[in-house]
This record gives sequence, C-alpha cells and structure tokens, in this order.
Amino acid sequence: MNGEAFHEPPGLCRLTAMASASNEFPTVRVFDHPLIQHKLTYLRDRATSHRPFRALLYQIAGLMVFEATRSFPTTEVEVETPIERTRARKLAGKITVVPVLRAGLGMAEGILEVMPEARVGHLGIYRNERTLEPIAYLKRLPRDLDAGPCLLVDPMLATGGSAVAALRMLRDAGAADLRLMCLVASPTGIRRVLFAEPNLTVYTAAIDRGLNEQGYIVPGLGDAGDRLYGTA
Ligand code: PRP
Ligand code: URA
Repeated sequence: MNGEAFHEPPGLCRLTAMASASNEFPTVRVFDHPLIQHKLTYLRDRATSHRPFRALLYQIAGLMVFEATRSFPTTEVEVETPIERTRARKLAGKITVVPVLRAGLGMAEGILEVMPEARVGHLGIYRNERTLEPIAYLKRLPRDLDAGPCLLVDPMLATGGSAVAALRMLRDAGAADLRLMCLVASPTGIRRVLFAEPNLTVYTAAIDRGLNEQGYIVPGLGDAGDRLYGTA
C-alpha cells in the first residue's frame, strides 16, 4: 500500500473528462453489459424510490459478482454424480465480502445471493460533509483475511477517500488477495485508489464525468446510502 499523500493534478479534481477504462486504467473493469446499464439507468433516476433502488442495487451486485469472481481460485474435488464418480471444481479458500456501511450493504446482499458461502466483514466509514475526509467508526473482520480472496464493496467511489481508508484497514488486517467492486466511480476516485494500490483490480458499472463542489459524483446517482434506506 502506497503511504504517500495523494495530490490530484490541478484541474482534474472537478468535472474531469470521461475516462476510457481500458486505456487510462488498465486494472479497472467497466461492466458495459446492457442489463447492468439498464438497471443503472433506473438507479440514477431521481424518481426511483428506496424500495426499487434497493432491489436494483441488489440485482446489479449479483450480476457484477459473476464476472468479478472469474479469477477466484478453485480447487479440484471428487464428486459422486447419480451416474459415476467424477472430478469437478469448487471455490478454494475462504471468500470474504466486505461492505462499507451503509451503502455497501445493499450490494453485499446481492452478492451473497449468488455466493452464499462467502463470509462477511463490515467496515463502517462515512465522509465528513465539509472536509470530505473519511471517518471510520466500525471494523468487524474475520481474523484470517488472508485465507482467500477479499472483495471490498461500496457503490460510490467519489473522492476515493473512503475506499483508500477501507483498503488500508483491510491490508492492516492481513488481506492479501484484494479487489474493489463499486457501481459508479469518478476518475478522481479511481486515480486515488490506484495511487494507493497500483495493482488493484477495480470493478465498476460506470466511470462518470467527475465530482461537483460537494464531492458528489456527476452525473452520479446522488447519495447512495440515503437513497437506499430512504433517509434523504
Ligand atoms: C458514501 C459511499 C462511500 C463514500 C464515497 O458513503 O457509500 O462510502 O460516500 O465517497 P468518497 O469516495 O468521497 O469517500 P457516505 O459517506 O455517504 O456514508 P453513508 O452511506 O453511511 O451515509
Ligand atoms: N457518496 C455518495 O453516496 N454519492 C456520491 O456521489 C458521492 C459520495
């Protein structure tokens, strides 16, 4: 983990141009699947209330995890089918999904639907509304985080402060095989995360234009936690 301070180059902090995922950020995978984009459009829509918002976030996370787990290690096992004994593959190691509270919880539930064997660690982090600095208030993680892949989930990667704080907490707790899954990312957030973790694989459904003066992603979808839980 890079311990130096991150300084966004002047002019890039606000309303940056749309980044090309493949060229500018080689370790960032953007999910351009029509079904995911279709659901994301409803999430963006301000008219979508918390109930459908929650269902859509759950569904998208379930779809994204299918691809995000593609490189997870597997192990060969023997299984008795009704016809004969054969070799087959199972996920290896202990998989840990770590949502960042609050909004990450909405994604974690969708992921667990597809991957119920995963363990869940929790990180509570919120942004100070004025400074936009992350404030960590909760950490409940399995002891052996290095026993398998660890998937950090948070729908919004805005300034990147919360994600970098979460990644640091996971590294300090022993996570070795670490990936980040979000829904909407800003170029600033991606740069900040990759400055801290240059080889990190980041999964996202969209890289938006940039950030506004309040640190919200534009066009974004607003405050994910508030929209998810109806607390706006
Ligand atoms: C949101 C979001 C991320 C963070 C992203 O959480 O879920 O954790 O903001 O912003 P950043 O990249 O600039 O750090 P929020 O602070 O709103 O907490 P909450 O969901 O508990 O309200
Ligand atoms: N947190 C959110 O929930 N939305 C944003 O756009 C930025 C931070």
